[in-house]
Amino acid sequence: MNKTILLTGATDGIGLETAKMLLAQGHTVLLHGRSQAKLNALQVALTEQYPNASTHTYIADLSDMSQVQTLAKNVLADMAENNNQLDVLINNAGVYQLVDATIDGLDARFVVNTIAPYLLTKLLLPVLGHDSRVVNVSSAAQSSVNLNALIGNTELSDSAAYAQSKLAITMWSRHLGLELKDIGPLVVSVNPKSLLGSKMVKDAYGIDGGDLKIGADIFCRAALSDEFKDAAGLYFDNDTGRFAPPHVDALDNAKNQQLVDTLDSILA
Ligand SMILES: NC(=O)c1ccc[n+]([C@@H]2O[C@H](COP(=O)([O-])OP(=O)(O)OC[C@H]3O[C@@H](n4cnc5c(N)ncnc54)[C@H](OP(=O)(O)O)[C@@H]3O)[C@@H](O)[C@H]2O)c1
Repeated sequence: MNKTILLTGATDGIGLETAKMLLAQGHTVLLHGRSQAKLNALQVALTEQYPNASTHTYIADLSDMSQVQTLAKNVLADMAENNNQLDVLINNAGVYQLVDATIDGLDARFVVNTIAPYLLTKLLLPVLGHDSRVVNVSSAAQSSVNLNALIGNTELSDSAAYAQSKLAITMWSRHLGLELKDIGPLVVSVNPKSLLGSKMVKDAYGIDGGDLKIGADIFCRAALSDEFKDAAGLYFDNDTGRFAPPHVDALDNAKNQQLVDTLDSILA
């Protein structure tokens, strides 16, 4: 059955491969990007490759919270206009290297990788139904979150900020996933596999990296397949190809609660 799927960071890397895979399966893909030129080129290329493709584009720089709000508002309006629900949200967009601090004085790596997907998910809950899914993109790189850094008061290296932001998204995924377990949507976090050959990996590590389709395949399965139907709050590690315990902090309900309280206070 045709599903409606919002995919952030659809303009490059694993996101782009995921968009292609979903369109090849006949789904409607809401393509998010931060560059209008890249989004336009993407839509033209995808329509050429998949003539029956159903796509819509949405622009937002996810390091800017007001643009996250506008993105959510536009998706909500389009869903209402078409009397549709969002079947899947894939929070894929991510950054490794520090760009500038945000206008809110926050670390843009935490904003793009952790805070924006949290805000987007919360704002889209009204159109995410009982059987909908939220797939949050995590990583094998996970380390304990410095809450002072999350609120923008401590500077971190790229590798530290990346690993902390990825544990943070894994922590709120577990928290929200367990909270919504019986009512939906299903929230799960996924490490797509380490060192897949995207521009992020090439820039950060100077290597070609592995086949991006490996990451796209697991995102599609997490979004749609029965393998993930009981995965609320779980973490799937595609380095080992199975559900696995995340970093120990994400199994600590008190720490997860503290992290979510901090996210809520930032957004307030
Ligand atoms: N590659 C790996 O081995 C690997 C391993 C573990 C986890 N991951 C995760 O997988 C996800 C996809 O990464 P990738 O490897 O495919 O990297 P990528 O090729 O660099 O793609 C990242 C995507 O996020 C978008 N993005 C970055 N900053 C943004 C911002 N401020 N606002 C809106 N969109 C923004 C990019 O947009 P532009 O096209 O405009 O740059 C691009 O579409 C990330 O969450 C990453 O952390 C990757």
